[in-house]
Amino acid sequence: MLPAPIREAKPSMPRADHDWFRRFFDADYVAALRDEKPRRQSRVEVDFLVRALDLPAGARILDVPCGFGRHAGLLARRGFHVVGVDLSPAMIREARRLWTVGPRLRFRRLDMRRMTFRGEFDAVVNLYTSFGYFTPAQNRAVLRRMARALRPGGRLLVDHRDPAFDATLPRRLWYRVGPRRFVLEDRRFDRRTRVTHSTRLTLTAGQRWVVQRSLRLQEFTLPQWRRMLREAGLRFLRAYSGYDGRSYRGTSTRRLIVLAERPRRRRAVRRRATRRGATPGRQGAAAPPRGAGRRRASAS
Ligand SMILES: C[S@@+](CC[C@H](N)C(=O)[O-])C[C@H]1O[C@@H](n2cnc3c(N)ncnc32)[C@H](O)[C@@H]1O
Repeated sequence: MLPAPIREAKPSMPRADHDWFRRFFDADYVAALRDEKPRRQSRVEVDFLVRALDLPAGARILDVPCGFGRHAGLLARRGFHVVGVDLSPAMIREARRLWTVGPRLRFRRLDMRRMTFRGEFDAVVNLYTSFGYFTPAQNRAVLRRMARALRPGGRLLVDHRDPAFDATLPRRLWYRVGPRRFVLEDRRFDRRTRVTHSTRLTLTAGQRWVVQRSLRLQEFTLPQWRRMLREAGLRFLRAYSGYDGRSYRGTSTRRLIVLAERPRRRRAVRRRATRRGATPGRQGAAAPPRGAGRRRASAS
């Protein structure tokens, strides 16, 4: 009897479900991120942030999501007042273990979709592909919430992937992450929607098991960023292709970092309107005073 033919199994990687981000950033991921982003790398990134955000001494910064606080902690050490927000209990635990929390540095476990900061910060940063995890409406709402956290004249910086680069990546790839990890990735990038579905198998030296994770990420072109920022009430300032501060040129460059500002104009409009005795409309309403703080959490 002939042996049964060996059928080649069609590889079918599982896709991320809609709240993949609740499980993805676990203790294993924390360890991988720590290896991948050593302190010297984070210092280079913080140098760039301080320059791009044009931060005055003692500025108040919101780092959302902050991960284990690699930027928040270093910024606080440079004399800034920083609040770091993250959903992952493992990340927040590690942040509190690594950094001295005090009046200059606080960490809060919070879903970025539920942030209710208002006008409290000179700068908001969203770093290392930490946006585009949700539905289109929720993504836009998160951007609005970040914009709302800024005082007039405050700046937002988002560091994301460049879809022009991701369009050039092969479907299957493997690469090293830090000194001990090797990743096999199945990555599907839809050129029309710019959504990436990725499933990663991570092999760690000295570990007998393999970790599998899936994510779903929405990416944005520069014109899309400009539109979204405008709709969130922000003024686009610049786009960079990396932490070396080079301008983004629209060709594939791995990173697409956008910088925007909350216009001061609205405040001036409101002041003029109030002087004339008019009641300012909602659009003209300025941010409440510093420290007005967190309000009731609401679903987006
Ligand atoms: C790629 S990591 C980047 C972390 C940090 N910005 C950095 O550069 O190290 C993405 C972070 O987003 C956090 N995150 C995912 N979903 C979130 C949510 N809904 N609200 C707040 N944080 C979230 C994760 O826990 C993780 O720390």
